[in-house]
Amino acid sequence: MVGTGYVGLVSGACFAQFGHDVTCIDSNAQRIDALRAGAMPIWEPGLDRLVAENVASGRLAFTGMLGPPVAEADAIFIAVGTPARRGDGHADLSYVYAAANEIADAMNGYSVVVTKSTVPVGTGRAVAQLIRMRRPEADFDVVANPEFLREGAAIDDFMKPDRVIVGVESERAREVMAQVYRPFNLIQVPVVFTGIETAEITKYAGNAFLAAKITFINEIADLCEKVGADVHDVARGIGLDGRIGRKFLHPGPGFGGSCFPKDTVALVRMAREAGAPQRLIETVIDVNDQRKKRMAQKVIAACGGKVAGRRIGVLGLTFKPDTDDMREAASLEVLPALQAAGAEIRAFDPQGTREAERLLPGVVLARTAYDVADGADALVVLTEWQEFRGLDPRRLRSLMRTPVVVDLRNIFDPVVFRSLGFSYEGVGRK
Ligand SMILES: NC(=O)c1ccc[n+]([C@@H]2O[C@H](COP(=O)([O-])OP(=O)(O)OC[C@H]3O[C@@H](n4cnc5c(N)ncnc54)[C@H](O)[C@@H]3O)[C@@H](O)[C@H]2O)c1
Repeated sequence: MVGTGYVGLVSGACFAQFGHDVTCIDSNAQRIDALRAGAMPIWEPGLDRLVAENVASGRLAFTGMLGPPVAEADAIFIAVGTPARRGDGHADLSYVYAAANEIADAMNGYSVVVTKSTVPVGTGRAVAQLIRMRRPEADFDVVANPEFLREGAAIDDFMKPDRVIVGVESERAREVMAQVYRPFNLIQVPVVFTGIETAEITKYAGNAFLAAKITFINEIADLCEKVGADVHDVARGIGLDGRIGRKFLHPGPGFGGSCFPKDTVALVRMAREAGAPQRLIETVIDVNDQRKKRMAQKVIAACGGKVAGRRIGVLGLTFKPDTDDMREAASLEVLPALQAAGAEIRAFDPQGTREAERLLPGVVLARTAYDVADGADALVVLTEWQEFRGLDPRRLRSLMRTPVVVDLRNIFDPVVFRSLGFSYEGVGRK
């Protein structure tokens, strides 16, 4: 497994749990040292135990040296990052190609090289060409096997996925992939074999659809706010229609994270180049960007039009609960805008503090949720961590200087908060 981040580490540990022998490789030496010492470089529920168990069983190992494990491997997964390229938004494939070059040099005997990273159409073929040019005699196939796990539920998603997509062109490679995923036969997970391009597009299409679904309900929430309707009832009302489904209809400050923003932009770029523009997704990106920018204004408006010199408490900094991942989080947009307007910010996140220290200069990071309420002129909910739902509104009220709540995830009960004298502002509901 080349790349030991959210996808590589989880996939590697889960494959080991299936009974495969796995070596996780990373070019970041600190990451490997930490893993060898039993420390997790990322926070994902249950991951520390799963890794420890499989290391103890001898099925999972970590190394910075790609050569030896790649020479022995039947399947080599590339799970390195594919961030948006600066300037044009294309997926930056430099890490994928660097890994492919190293793999080419180390391969020995028949090997299947699998792209697990999210990569634009044509990358699988480009990786094959790159390896062939470097090692014309190498015996290998390239497979596209995009990953669909969600941070925060990654282990469960990997062990019990809705489906596995495998883009493959040779019978030999198909047989290796069938062996890799054989444990899924027992629990009847559909393993869908497709062409390589189809598998690559499937990943982008899936993420773009989900990003569109969130953006749809966010715009409906805006309309609900204007006309006095309740977006949750609307979401339930439409979601009970089996063609629509109830998931991903929760309004908020706009989507973020390590995947949707970069994958929607990459899809749009790739589609324009292919001469099949994705106008719907172009609009989704634009609507979402505007929304994230507007959220700071919503907070300022709730504070009576100005926040200069005011203290604002923020609950949640990560892009969603149950992860320490801050990539493209709404907090990175909203908090600097509030600081620029003169607010003093104190924030709490159960797992995001380490990243936040680096990414949010000037924000005071508190140790508990109640600490951020202490002396605050407004309390803003940015991430719906489960533990925030149970906060005692009376205690919050007694701590705050001004009882203003801006709940951008609708986790609190407006009736309760208003009855205690709070000015309460949610998303898409009265
Ligand atoms: N994070 C998610 O929820 C998620 C879900 C599905 C798919 N994906 C996709 O999976 C891919 C990986 O995402 P991630 O979130 O795990 O990234 P990440 O940034 O957490 O991890 C990437 C790792 O790859 C390592 N790396 C980079 N180049 C390397 C090389 N040449 N050799 C060895 N290691 C190298 C980095 O040091 C890093 O540890 C991306 O394409 C992403 O779009 C991510």
